Amino acid sequence: MKYLVTGGAGFIGSHFCEYVLNKYKNAQVVCYDKLTYAGSLSNLNNIIDNKNFIFIKGDICDKKQVESVITKHEITTIINFAAESHVDRAIESSAEFLQTNYIGVSVLIDLAVKYNLRFHQVSTDEVYGDLPIESNLKFTEESLLKPSSAYSASKAAADLLVLSYVKTFNLKATISRSTNNFGTHQHTEKFLPTIITKAVKNQQIPVYGNGENVRDWLFVGEHCRAIDLIVTKGEIGEIYNVGANYELSNITLVKRVLSLLNKPESLINFVEDRKGHDKKYSLCLNKIASELGFVPQNDFDKNLICTIEYYTRSCI
Ligand SMILES: NC(=O)c1ccc[n+]([C@@H]2O[C@H](COP(=O)([O-])OP(=O)(O)OC[C@H]3O[C@@H](n4cnc5c(N)ncnc54)[C@H](O)[C@@H]3O)[C@@H](O)[C@H]2O)c1
Repeated sequence: MKYLVTGGAGFIGSHFCEYVLNKYKNAQVVCYDKLTYAGSLSNLNNIIDNKNFIFIKGDICDKKQVESVITKHEITTIINFAAESHVDRAIESSAEFLQTNYIGVSVLIDLAVKYNLRFHQVSTDEVYGDLPIESNLKFTEESLLKPSSAYSASKAAADLLVLSYVKTFNLKATISRSTNNFGTHQHTEKFLPTIITKAVKNQQIPVYGNGENVRDWLFVGEHCRAIDLIVTKGEIGEIYNVGANYELSNITLVKRVLSLLNKPESLINFVEDRKGHDKKYSLCLNKIASELGFVPQNDFDKNLICTIEYYTRSCI
């Protein structure tokens, strides 16, 4: 297969490029990324010299450039990670989110239809909106879409657009909706890298509201494994939830990191809650388990320690 991995210089996309190159010795990967503040060539250090890997700087909204990459490199499969991904930034201004997360996807799927390519859209659990903290409910792939931010609304809109292309144009597409990822290569503006880097520097760690908001923490390598399964074995036109079944409140996660770093809880600084802050995300993972055999391999503590070591090194 010849993959076009859009947004491949970001957190999850860079791990996916590496995953594919390690797993499939014949695979060719073209990583196409605008290199916004969130993307970095250093995320590709492990693979930049691989003869089956090429990096091209570009915007997914630039149809002419994407088309020339597809034809020149005889792409067979597009995996789209490219996105504006930080909710706090979406609250400040939504324009870039709509442009990349929605218009950008329309460019990719128009070309996927034109060249009869396999397309996978990397989406998020945030499209479902949230649950009350005390709830035991879980969102299934059939749940209503009730996004709370311009980020999640733009992702939900893109999901619907992809599904409409499946019906109208027989687009060979799948969608994955994943819970919070953690691991190396993530921008330090995000929650876990913020906790670690502030704690290492003995700085105050901002925690929204009372810190009781619940997230499910999926190791990034497991997300890559799930996407690969969906792309190779998933049913066209289907959506698959992906998660770890490892739910923690934000404050529990902060305390766990502080304890591993041997830092005092007095570094915790509760700040005014995020506008529209989702209380809890929780996904039903039965479909991906029963149809594709994906059961997340949870070694949360070991992966958390590796992640802490990585961000600690970046602080030195
Ligand atoms: N991080 C998570 O926990 C998480 C959870 C669920 C779903 N997702 C989804 O996974 C995908 C990847 O997330 P991430 O955390 O790796 O994001 P990220 O912000 O780390 O990376 C996004 C990448 O996309 C690139 N990019 C942005 N706009 C672009 C454009 N117009 N053209 C080309 N490249 C562009 C950036 O340069 C960056 O390299 C996103 O679609 C996100 O919605 C992320």
